[in-house]
Amino acid sequence: MADTTLMDKLVSLCKRRGFVFQSSEIYGGLGSVWDYGPLGVELKKNIKDRWWNAMVHARDDIEGLDAAILMHPRVWEASGHVAGFTDPLVDCKQCKNRFRADDPRIKGTPGQPDAQCPVCGTRGSLTEPRLFNLMFKTFMGPVEDSAAIVYLRPETAQGIYVNYLNVLQSSRQRIPFGIAQIGKAFRNEITPGNFIFRTREFEQMEMQFFVQPGTDAEWFERWREWRMAWHQSLGLNPAKLQWHQHAGSELAHYAKAAFDIQYEFPFGWQEIEGIHNRGDFDLSRHQEYSGKKLEYFDQAANQRYLPYIVETSAGADRVALTLLVDAYREETVEGETRVVLGFHPSIAPIKAGVFPLVKKDGMPELATTLYHDLRKQFPVFYDDSGAIGRRYRRMDEAGTPFGVTVDGETGSNQTVTVRDRDSMAQERIAVSRVGEYLSDKMRLAA
Ligand code: GAP
Repeated sequence: MADTTLMDKLVSLCKRRGFVFQSSEIYGGLGSVWDYGPLGVELKKNIKDRWWNAMVHARDDIEGLDAAILMHPRVWEASGHVAGFTDPLVDCKQCKNRFRADDPRIKGTPGQPDAQCPVCGTRGSLTEPRLFNLMFKTFMGPVEDSAAIVYLRPETAQGIYVNYLNVLQSSRQRIPFGIAQIGKAFRNEITPGNFIFRTREFEQMEMQFFVQPGTDAEWFERWREWRMAWHQSLGLNPAKLQWHQHAGSELAHYAKAAFDIQYEFPFGWQEIEGIHNRGDFDLSRHQEYSGKKLEYFDQAANQRYLPYIVETSAGADRVALTLLVDAYREETVEGETRVVLGFHPSIAPIKAGVFPLVKKDGMPELATTLYHDLRKQFPVFYDDSGAIGRRYRRMDEAGTPFGVTVDGETGSNQTVTVRDRDSMAQERIAVSRVGEYLSDKMRLAA
């Protein structure tokens, strides 16, 4: 049974604290499209930075890329998306709603008299399933004719495949090597939902690793291990992460083998990242459709071949939701409920709150100076309104790991208290050491 209460609380916290807002809310919202507010944009940036550091900066065998969202329409024929990126859908002739054919709310068999519409309840009104392509189409150029149809990319991967020779040659890499990219993708999902879990516009963090045929199974295993370790390094509860292997019937058209990393959400175990052994499917299709040779010449072995590809594909929004769900907790402290987002410090949007205990005796001035000093190093937040306990609680809810308070002693002995979000324990340290102290804490937790 899904824990809807937790999701409801999280959606409400995300709005209240400025993590995520519904898109175009003042117009009634746009279905399954979300906007990231001030805290959400920092959270997502921290996720993407950690991914980029692990995949590109920390390795000498992966290069970065930022390919355009719009691509030549033939790309999507070659990739198999025009023909095969479809969901079977049924329509209700009575209320005009549209559902996935496998929607668990449908009773009976669509197309048959026994089938019942899950919205209006009419029997026999559901059509036979029809295939519906999930790609968004748009028109390029001033004339809306079919010759100018382009698609909003449904994955970032294809931008990598069509640039693989450009990157290989310009970076002087040799196989095995990878190309990493972070970018928006679009899918006209029919049953989107669960907040930012499945949306129509989302961000992917994808890496395609090009290997010699025959070494793909070995690289696939390595990438499985590295990617799981990356998710664990975000501080996620390891008991809530698991592997799901795709059985033959589940495999996407391009995949020789596929494993998902799943997280146990309140609505069940769900995929957050896919690791795929794509064989030579992509490069051979692009070679065929473009008419350009995409082979690699291995000088050492004096051998020419079409590389195989091992792909790691994660959603930045799904990772953000995973972190929010994993971090959310409620505790009772002195008879009151304390809501905490226990983010890992490297992921927390704000690293420290800076507070004058009261708005007098020079405390705001000292706190403001400290705040300006600290914000040169990391995102910090200044708050002087309300009781100090309330200010701590607001920072707990935002996932801020530390609270620095200027109090009556600061003026005389140049010390402040630093409060730890999780233990709520306070330490007194010299004002001059606060920056270094917080950096050390964050380094230790990294
Ligand atoms: N290039 C392979 C590929 O796109 P996928 O399993 O369709 O594979 C990879 O997607 C990842 O992208 C998923 O694990 C998920 O994190 C994210 N993703 C896919 N569809 C999404 C959607 N509608 N909303 C949010 N994230 C999505």
